Amino acid sequence: MSTTATAISRERIAELTEREARRLDERTRGSGRMFERARGPLAAGVASSYQVRDPWPIYLERGAGAKVWDVDGNEMWDFHNGFGSMVQGHANPQIGQAVRDRYALGTHFAAPTEDAIVVAEELVRRFKLPRWRYTNSGSESTMDAIRIARAFTGRDDVLKIFGSYHGHHDTVMVSIGIEYDKIGDHDRPVSLPYGGGIPQSTVDHVFAVHFNDAESMERRIVELDREGRKPACVIMEAAMMNLGVVLPEDGYLEAVREITRKHGVVLIFDEVKTGLCIAAGGATERYGVVADMVTLAKSLGGGLPTGAIGMSEEIARVVEDGTVYQVGTYNGNPLGMAAARASLTEVLTPEAYAHLDHLNDRIVKGCQAVVDEFELPGYALGIGSKGCVTFAPVKVIDYETFKEHQDAELADLAWLYNANRGIFMTPGREEEWTLSVAHTDVAIDAYVNVFREMAADLRA
Ligand SMILES: Cc1ncc(COP(=O)(O)O)c(C=O)c1O
Repeated sequence: MSTTATAISRERIAELTEREARRLDERTRGSGRMFERARGPLAAGVASSYQVRDPWPIYLERGAGAKVWDVDGNEMWDFHNGFGSMVQGHANPQIGQAVRDRYALGTHFAAPTEDAIVVAEELVRRFKLPRWRYTNSGSESTMDAIRIARAFTGRDDVLKIFGSYHGHHDTVMVSIGIEYDKIGDHDRPVSLPYGGGIPQSTVDHVFAVHFNDAESMERRIVELDREGRKPACVIMEAAMMNLGVVLPEDGYLEAVREITRKHGVVLIFDEVKTGLCIAAGGATERYGVVADMVTLAKSLGGGLPTGAIGMSEEIARVVEDGTVYQVGTYNGNPLGMAAARASLTEVLTPEAYAHLDHLNDRIVKGCQAVVDEFELPGYALGIGSKGCVTFAPVKVIDYETFKEHQDAELADLAWLYNANRGIFMTPGREEEWTLSVAHTDVAIDAYVNVFREMAADLRA
């Protein structure tokens, strides 16, 4: 946090935003033409609504290591990394070899293969949970984890953190990190569906509390219990990765662990973003708190759609005795398992994590120096391969502080500056950077230099 932060002129932000948006349109005419073609056969011209961008998305052609190239030939350092999936870097040679070897031996049987065991053994070691199952995405992981928790406890209700995203199935598309008008009081925020098509009866089973407030969580659990609706589980990220990056305050996760254990509520750490990205054993290792279940996806497959669910022996019994059908044609797909095996055993090594820590330290320090020099209202923070500059005059600790203080216009401008200067960043005001093992100090310095240029222009 810059101690001498001063306000930035809104007119200046608007003026620069207009200039940069025009410049980006000029640089991405090929994407514009591709969009015209894409919007015929593809709804809104994209494969997922998170790829929509006005006036058109940037269509990519290829990636190698820490870089990507768009269809206009623009070369960019990739800090988006597939929404945080490509911590191994693009076209990673070890993963490529594993996938080629596996392809020659057949890619799908819907029968178990040895790699599925090797990957599970490695996940047991990293995440301290004894039993694992596979899925094909983060959404499938959280969907199945919640079903397992419901079956294990015999309860229907779910408690989550207001502002957290856990995928696109109905139960978790409630009270996420978008701009809501009114969210109710701190202890009892309302449950709000994200978009159409979500039955109100599902929303009625989901409650939210705010991050970094364990006492509020306990009060809500007790209250719900009194109403005869004790939650089956608390699903949460140990460090929030969908409001920029919001780290847990000291003692918070330990308190959550104690409260959920005391009340017999299953604790699920959704490590789809944190797992394998902020340490070998994700947030579980980084914070030393072991949940009852962990969900993984994104970086697990090193670019192939692979997810996993870890659980205690006790909880696994409802899967093992056939109470819950944890199923899927492509679960444990040999190609994904080969990629995950190479990733876990050859790429995401202790040296790789040391490299990521070094890079993140450099980018956080570099960005913070810019914040201080130009007295910007904001601060830089990071953990493992993840981090961001949060544009807010006070520390963001939960959805309430994020909504009240985040400078969304500045976040949008930063994205445009990056896009125009060879930095591919995750679109969306609530997103963060993901570094890869292929990133270098040169990539980091490029990022910091663009940030410096924006800061100087804002103060010019
Ligand atoms: C924490 C978290 N959980 C789950 C998901 C859903 O993953 P997927 O998009 O693979 O379904 C996401 C996606 O961004 C996520 O950030």
